[in-house]
Amino acid sequence: MAIDKKFIDQFINITSRAAYASSFFIGKKDKIGADKAAVDSMRTELNKINMTGEVVIGEGSLDEAPMLYTGEILGTKNGPDFDIAVDPVEGTNFVANNLPGGLTVLAIAEKGNLFNAPETYMNKIATGKIEKGLIDLDYPLKENIKNLSEFKNKDISSLTVCILDRPRHKEIIDELNDLNVNVKLISDGDVLGALYVSDPKYNIDMFMGIGGGPEGVLAASALDSFECHFQGRFIFDNEKDIQQAKTMGIKDLDKKYELSEIIKGDSIFCATGITDSSFIKGITLDQDRYISETLITHKNTNYKKLVKNVNSINE
Ligand code: FBP
Repeated sequence: MAIDKKFIDQFINITSRAAYASSFFIGKKDKIGADKAAVDSMRTELNKINMTGEVVIGEGSLDEAPMLYTGEILGTKNGPDFDIAVDPVEGTNFVANNLPGGLTVLAIAEKGNLFNAPETYMNKIATGKIEKGLIDLDYPLKENIKNLSEFKNKDISSLTVCILDRPRHKEIIDELNDLNVNVKLISDGDVLGALYVSDPKYNIDMFMGIGGGPEGVLAASALDSFECHFQGRFIFDNEKDIQQAKTMGIKDLDKKYELSEIIKGDSIFCATGITDSSFIKGITLDQDRYISETLITHKNTNYKKLVKNVNSINE
């Protein structure tokens, strides 16, 4: 069953409002306040939607988060059953410090079709649309780069790889430098980092590295509509995470997930900018209105668009 197109505008409204709520914290050095404003707004607005929506990726378990916790049911319960993944503020540092790239992110799939990701790190790799088997999380880096260069008919020195700037990525970054690949280091926000591969205009040929697992699922939800390549493997490196994985029914802790195993069927993805980025503009105020920009994708109708909305602040 497809998700009705009528939900597109409703979900754009949700991420727009949450981004607006969080925008009051831009540059205020208050990550928690920025997140809470978006969470409160999202939860209130999601509860108005005619659906039975279960949070599969949210702010954590019930004891960690009273709002948007994993398993929380949202909506009027008078409508279709959805799985919901939210990241009310992706890039809390960006918002707190008035840096580019803060987003409000939401993905909706038909019930049972969105992977319930544990709160662990995930090793990820993403590219634009490629031939099956060309790029793989398990190939040596050099092989992936060589394959991508041949497939894109681009010299290795013209390829750009985006990766989070973290000490854990030192070896990868060093190897990319040795291979003469351009490296785009990002300080945070690997949902956006992965999204860059969706359009050649961003000039990112591959996204890779270890970041949040929930962020991986959200990125995959968007990349699905762009027919991009994405693989992820969760990292369970301590007893607590291993136990959590087992509780969640994950049997093979070392499993490599293909995009098609992370998100299935129809889906809607929305990401509204809080602060500006080269991808999505942030919230701007204009007297009694605020302007938001949202990347929206709807899988079944192949709808992919950056939508600008002018909203009244009094509503
Ligand atoms: P927050 O918005 O929750 O702070 O996450 C930002 C982020 O950069 C994610 O995009 C990324 O997946 C994760 O943090 C990386 O985690 P770490 O900072 O521990 O490397």
